[in-house]
Amino acid sequence: MSVSRPYLLKMRKLRVAVLVSGGGTNLQALLDAEARGELNRVEFCLVLSSRADAYALERAKARGIPTSVVRRKDYESPETFESGLISELEKVKAEFIVLAGFLAKVGERILSLWHNRIINIHPSLLPAYGGQGMYGLRVHEAVLAAGESWSGATVHLVNQDYDQGRILKQKRVRVMPDDTPESLQQRIMREAEWQIYPETLGELAEQIMGEDK
Ligand code: GRF
Repeated sequence: MSVSRPYLLKMRKLRVAVLVSGGGTNLQALLDAEARGELNRVEFCLVLSSRADAYALERAKARGIPTSVVRRKDYESPETFESGLISELEKVKAEFIVLAGFLAKVGERILSLWHNRIINIHPSLLPAYGGQGMYGLRVHEAVLAAGESWSGATVHLVNQDYDQGRILKQKRVRVMPDDTPESLQQRIMREAEWQIYPETLGELAEQIMGEDK
């Protein structure tokens, strides 16, 4: 028996805001998964960038998703910057926050307002190669310098300590002998990040919205 349309239309979706600062390939992976029908309980209500020139904003606009820019330099202090972020998130009634290459620190008020409702993706097998200052190519440079045979990506809950929230999903990726930081970064994105981020978000949205079925 097929599920009737009115039933499907009634299913409420989790309102998700994606916070970005750069190119947004992880955002793109999320949008593509949604377009393929893999994120049935997710509605992207906002893409918020800490930089006006982030290409991620174009990716959001191309899908008709509302965007906003909140730049640290437009605010007097970390506290007023955080108020600026909260105001944008509350305007769209965001229920869940996905950090996708967001380079600003998420403050205490956001962490408490969206408690256990903020996730991040990091391009290493945490707890290895995480923490303050470990971002972008630096992660992959450190992995290569240590002569590791494996690296990968980790999706985790966000708490007050960089890259230390509860691990939700990891995927390993082989380090090749001739890898450069750039080639390793690309392989980890392609083989791990762009897969496990949409998967994890889909699973969490199902869990959170489950009681609404
Ligand atoms: C990714 O490597 C992600 O793991 C890290 O920031 C980078 C963002 O890249 N948190 P993109 O903007 O999604 O292309």
